[in-house]
Amino acid sequence: MFGKKKTDTFVCDERLDHVAVIMDGNGRWAQKRGLPRTAGHKAGADAVEEILKVFREIGVHTVTLYAFSTENWKRPREEVDAIMSLLSLYLENHVKPKMEEDDGFCLRFLGDLSKLPADLSAKCREIESLKKDRPFLVQVALNYGGRDEILRAVNSLLAGGVKTVDGDTFSQYLDTGGVRDPDLLIRTGGDMRLSNFLLWQSAYTEFYFTDTLFPDFGRADVLDAVRDFYKRKRRFGGLNKEEKP
Ligand code: IPE
Ligand code: IPE
Ligand code: MG
Repeated sequence: MFGKKKTDTFVCDERLDHVAVIMDGNGRWAQKRGLPRTAGHKAGADAVEEILKVFREIGVHTVTLYAFSTENWKRPREEVDAIMSLLSLYLENHVKPKMEEDDGFCLRFLGDLSKLPADLSAKCREIESLKKDRPFLVQVALNYGGRDEILRAVNSLLAGGVKTVDGDTFSQYLDTGGVRDPDLLIRTGGDMRLSNFLLWQSAYTEFYFTDTLFPDFGRADVLDAVRDFYKRKRRFGGLNKEEKP
């Protein structure tokens, strides 16, 4: 059963601590309206705040958003530049002021920030350092690829002279080190693939795919995904109590 009822919404329990979101479909959203793809990215950025609000309200503690992949550099230069400027503006004009007025959340960036425009990576680091260890953590994956993350972890272990490593230690070397694996991963936009997102961390994550394009993904869609999650039986390779002989 999906948690306890709280006014008009629900409260999650310990089964749903971390949700990851592949925010896909911005370009198609714009094209359907005869707008440039960049208008879709702007609309996508506008949709983020509402979904974070809902996750926080229902008691999720960590949300990880896929904003730009290591493969997204293959897009036309103008689109990449527009996404980078949009991110920069969004961090400056929305995220920073919000952090000043609201003590309850903090941000962390996943991915190789060294390849981003210098002003953007500096802004990311500044925002990360503003607040730490707040009850609601938002992780933003930027120039992130699961394979790249794994290779960076391996290379950093090798550089430290390590010869063998166990799973728990390895997890600590990933960008997500210290954070529990996602319980639920939502992908908007209709495609059913990971596109190089959280490859190691999603070993036992529940997947939820929806055709809704990200700019249209709102409160009701979040609650649908969460309700669906609470119908799943997670086994982690074992058996649940009622399945035991
Ligand atoms: C996701 O939307 C945002 C990024 C990858 C930056 P898309 O831009 O991939 O939108 P579609 O999938 O082409 O509609
Ligand atoms: C995944 O979407 C990356 C982000 C949402 C940031 P893509 O649009 O890049 O994925 P593919 O190319 O359709 O697999
Ligand atoms: Mg896409």
